[in-house]
Amino acid sequence: MPDGASSVLDVRGLKTVFRTRSGEVHAVNSVSFDVKPGELLGVVGESGSGKSVTMMSLIGLLPSPPAEVRDGQVLFEGSDLLRCSEEHLRGVRGARIGFVFQDPMTSLNPVFTVGFQIMEPLRAHLGMSRRVAERRAAELLDLVGIPDARRRLADYPHQFSGGMRQRVMIAIALACEPKVLIADEPTTALDVTIQAQILELVRDLRQKLGMAIVWITHDLGVIAGIADRVIVMYGGQIVEQAPVRELFGNPQHPYTRALLQTIPHVRGARAARLKVIEGQPPILYRHPTACPFAPRCGHTFDRCLAANPPRVPVGPGGHDAACFWDFATGGPRDA
Ligand SMILES: Nc1ncnc2c1ncn2[C@@H]1O[C@H](COP(=O)(O)OP(=O)(O)O)[C@@H](O)[C@H]1O
Ligand SMILES: [Mg+2]
Repeated sequence: MPDGASSVLDVRGLKTVFRTRSGEVHAVNSVSFDVKPGELLGVVGESGSGKSVTMMSLIGLLPSPPAEVRDGQVLFEGSDLLRCSEEHLRGVRGARIGFVFQDPMTSLNPVFTVGFQIMEPLRAHLGMSRRVAERRAAELLDLVGIPDARRRLADYPHQFSGGMRQRVMIAIALACEPKVLIADEPTTALDVTIQAQILELVRDLRQKLGMAIVWITHDLGVIAGIADRVIVMYGGQIVEQAPVRELFGNPQHPYTRALLQTIPHVRGARAARLKVIEGQPPILYRHPTACPFAPRCGHTFDRCLAANPPRVPVGPGGHDAACFWDFATGGPRDA
């Protein structure tokens, strides 16, 4: 991916809060990132780090209240999605930006056939006739590797296995040939063999269709083999971003380093024991004024508690990290 290629999606300074009985929860804090045309961007972080809230904020999918997108810009195809009309957003959602969520059982409607649900966006967004949409729906099921596609259009979601339902969701997300596909932990509920098949399918589809993919997961191991670039999230912030090899070879945030140690290394026949990161991700009742990872970090010093570190360049390919500790010198980074 050429450096500095213009982005298809450009997110700047995104802030989302939830108003709860115990006060405001600062779920997403000044998140900025972009997605380049045709790239596969991995987004990782433990459960609760703000990955889903970030993505749902982009296209207005969070219920408000309790959620409030408080600041930021989401630039896509010449408009700011945080400031456009609901009608414009509806045209973008599910058509120009496709979505696949973790649990296809809650995203698919049990009372409609799979064929109907694939044809729906084709008819609504692209104005296809019933007959044309039906033919296209069969092509899409075939594309995502569902055997006997034409006949299966008449089946209901419960007649498909978990892996096949996830393929149906991908077919729906791809129906209008989106510029960007956002996949939020789409394989988490599936067993490893099926996970691997879905990953292969997505890689293959990207080759064929050329859209950009944002692949969200709590498992750094999953994206090691497929992502071009990786964003690491913690406490509602991006703490590190880098091209995938650079991230694995030269991680610069203590949280990324800890995550890397949770990936099993297979040596011979026996997998090394998994390390777990001690402690819990924070729930942020105030806008963070210190590094959110400081309580769990082995390198914390006074500066980490006095200020929230900004992202600074730390390596090639746009590699940046939000940390005051410098692993190269084994001491504090020059302020
Ligand atoms: N409905 C809600 N009400 C209050 N806080 C919420 C709600 N949904 C999410 N959050 C907060 O947002 C944080 C990030 O959630 P989420 O984006 O779903 O995490 P991830 O997808 O990384 O697992 C959570 O840790 C929680 O503090
Ligand atoms: Mg999530």
